[in-house]
Amino acid sequence: MARAMARGWGRPVLCADPIAARAKALAEETGGEALASNAEVAERADLVVLCHKPAQLQAVAKDVAPHAKAVASILAATPLPALKDAYPGKPVYRFIPSLPVEVRQGAVVQAAGPEQDAARDRAVSELFAELGTLVVLDDKLVDVAMGLMSCAPAYVALVAEAQIDAGVRKGIPATQGAELVVQTLAGTAELLRRRGNDTMAIRREVASPGGVTAKGLDALERGGIRAAFSDALDAVLEQP
Ligand SMILES: NC(=O)c1ccc[n+]([C@@H]2O[C@H](COP(=O)([O-])OP(=O)(O)OC[C@H]3O[C@@H](n4cnc5c(N)ncnc54)[C@H](OP(=O)(O)O)[C@@H]3O)[C@@H](O)[C@H]2O)c1
Repeated sequence: MARAMARGWGRPVLCADPIAARAKALAEETGGEALASNAEVAERADLVVLCHKPAQLQAVAKDVAPHAKAVASILAATPLPALKDAYPGKPVYRFIPSLPVEVRQGAVVQAAGPEQDAARDRAVSELFAELGTLVVLDDKLVDVAMGLMSCAPAYVALVAEAQIDAGVRKGIPATQGAELVVQTLAGTAELLRRRGNDTMAIRREVASPGGVTAKGLDALERGGIRAAFSDALDAVLEQP
């Protein structure tokens, strides 16, 4: 996710990683600098973006907190109070990105928090808004949102694959099927955006009464598509 965000920002980054070669590769790709430690990143950066796993919060904070000017976390299942505990007295921001941030088409959620420093708050929000569409939600809803948008690139890829495979079964070569399905996904997303995200309007427009699309939609409903997505969200939110 660190790499995806850095690619999306398209600017040099200072970075550190337990595997030095990984940090070096990212620094070379962005024209930035790989540093020897998290503490060094914190000393030099205006904003430290935490991209490690949630379980590493305390261990990383031990090195970063004494030096950081401000911290932005993308850690799942780590609400603002936990971040503030780990970074006492420091300005802390919480975001959840999604993989398409790499192409600046990501959905990014920001946890609403009290004003810290108006100018910096705005600059940090604007930085993450560069990666796509930024939606501010109550901290309690951020992990629910993650189940919608952060996991979704995998869901959408699976849905695309299922359609491509269905086409292959009827004789459409996978490469051409993929072109058709992926372009339809991209075009439908753009159309939805222009129509105010009105999913039902698009559905009604394509599905004429008694027509083939209505039959296809009926088959998907009977196949349990809504229940499957609902179950997926429940599964994501289950405590480990
Ligand atoms: N993947 C997503 O779509 C997504 C979306 C939203 C939020 N997130 C959140 O983003 C974070 C990263 O997820 P990811 O999928 O990118 O995981 P990842 O591929 O495992 O990346 C985590 C990186 O942090 C490194 N790391 C481990 N300990 C560290 C330390 N002490 N200091 C600095 N770096 C350290 C890891 O190195 P090692 O591999 O050597 O441990 C690894 O390179 C997680 O907290 C996750 O909840 C992920």
